[in-house]
Amino acid sequence: MIDTHAHLLKEFYDNIEETINNSKINNILHIINCADSLSSSYETLQLSKQYKNFVLPAIGIHPNNIKDNWKEEINEIEILIKKEKPIAIGETGLDYYHNKENKIEQIELFKSQINLSKKYNLPILIHSREATKDTLDILKETKPIGIIHCFSGSLETAKEYIKLGLYLGIGGVITFKNSKLPEVIKEIPLENIVLETDCPFLTPHPHRGKQNSPSYIYLIAERIAQIKNISIEEVIKQTSNNAKDIFKI
Ligand code: NI
Repeated sequence: MIDTHAHLLKEFYDNIEETINNSKINNILHIINCADSLSSSYETLQLSKQYKNFVLPAIGIHPNNIKDNWKEEINEIEILIKKEKPIAIGETGLDYYHNKENKIEQIELFKSQINLSKKYNLPILIHSREATKDTLDILKETKPIGIIHCFSGSLETAKEYIKLGLYLGIGGVITFKNSKLPEVIKEIPLENIVLETDCPFLTPHPHRGKQNSPSYIYLIAERIAQIKNISIEEVIKQTSNNAKDIFKI
């Protein structure tokens, strides 16, 4: 299994080594470890050197971490792309839930990272919270390849993203009791889905409330198998192939 979206960063974990070793024991093949800022971009690049071919780094700046000097930071991200060859750009995107006062800057920051993803032919990991319309408009205009991380929207929105060639990242939300996501995912082909934990956030049921880990990917696979009435092996095989295609691994 591949966790296409984790945040194994010091700010969230004091047991990164243990978490990674447990993931290996629990049949995880690769972890895409996503930065959310310039400093965590350095951190995930460093960790990926320590766990070569296992922890794969995505670097970028999350909309919640915009600083006044973000343009300089993006220049530095580009230098890191050239030098360190990360596997993807992200996590980035739009978040109007946390802040809608700085929409214009968020859009500029997002677009600058889409440019990098296209320039260096890397997939982009997209966060979109209460910003579906702007996200879709930008993606229709720019057409990057990548993943809509932690997708939890409507069937209509899912179809729009898929039409653009994007994949839906499905995580712990699908295991939550009152989630409407199962109804949507029932209608979406496995060919358009990848699995992710977004750890340390969104810990799947029945571990909700505890620290999340890439090891819990199987709970998400299991739930999708249940919803689609197919085997868990089939879910794992297809979604892993999708991830391998996207990240060229
Ligand atoms: Ni995330």
